[in-house]
Amino acid sequence: MSIIQLLPEIEERSSITNWSSKSISEETWEILFEAARRAPSSWNRQPARYVVVSEENVKKSVCNALHRTNKWAEKAAGLIVQVADPVDDDRLDGKDYYLYDCGLSMMSLIYQAQSMGITTRQMIGFDEKDMKQILGIPDRYRIVVIAGLGYPSESPVSMKLAQIKHVMTEQHKRYRLEHLVSWQKWGGKSK
Ligand SMILES: Cc1cc2nc3c(=O)[nH]c(=O)nc-3n(C[C@H](O)[C@H](O)[C@H](O)COP(=O)(O)O)c2cc1C
Repeated sequence: MSIIQLLPEIEERSSITNWSSKSISEETWEILFEAARRAPSSWNRQPARYVVVSEENVKKSVCNALHRTNKWAEKAAGLIVQVADPVDDDRLDGKDYYLYDCGLSMMSLIYQAQSMGITTRQMIGFDEKDMKQILGIPDRYRIVVIAGLGYPSESPVSMKLAQIKHVMTEQHKRYRLEHLVSWQKWGGKSK
């Protein structure tokens, strides 16, 4: 058993998609995007923009432009399509920091959601051209990621199935800390 104690949102977060039919209120959406808005970004460029899809008919169209392995998204209470204009980039040494900034913003939203009992799953398996057309997103924007959100189903069968899927796909697996972190120099072990 680990003696490390993390924030509950970090401990509990998992990309579980066994969502119930409960919808996300307007007030909750506002809180989630406030969390996203407060994220840091390089030179404070704030590149991330969001399109929320919560109406059933729009959700259906969006799901048609997802990769077939992402059909679970149909059950989401809402889908967040995160887009950014590369013009808002702080490109340094050939590195596009707008994507990094978008990730920070989404992660901020995800932990806020987790703290409110909402689980999320991000995906990049979609047809960008089709998705832009469906949602009327101007050409100059790139779709960075799409996240499904919802309240988890409390049915024991659904919870068990989600747990089995989670273990089978080895989602819980992470590299050991020693593999990720060096001390003093690359590969260094002395703290
Ligand atoms: C950028 C990104 C893209 C992802 N794309 C997909 C996807 O297309 N389909 C999917 O089912 N899961 C997708 N995931 C979810 C990952 O598979 C999941 O985060 C990973 O297995 C770790 O599991 P955890 O989030 O429960 O810790 C994506 C996650 C990220 C961060």
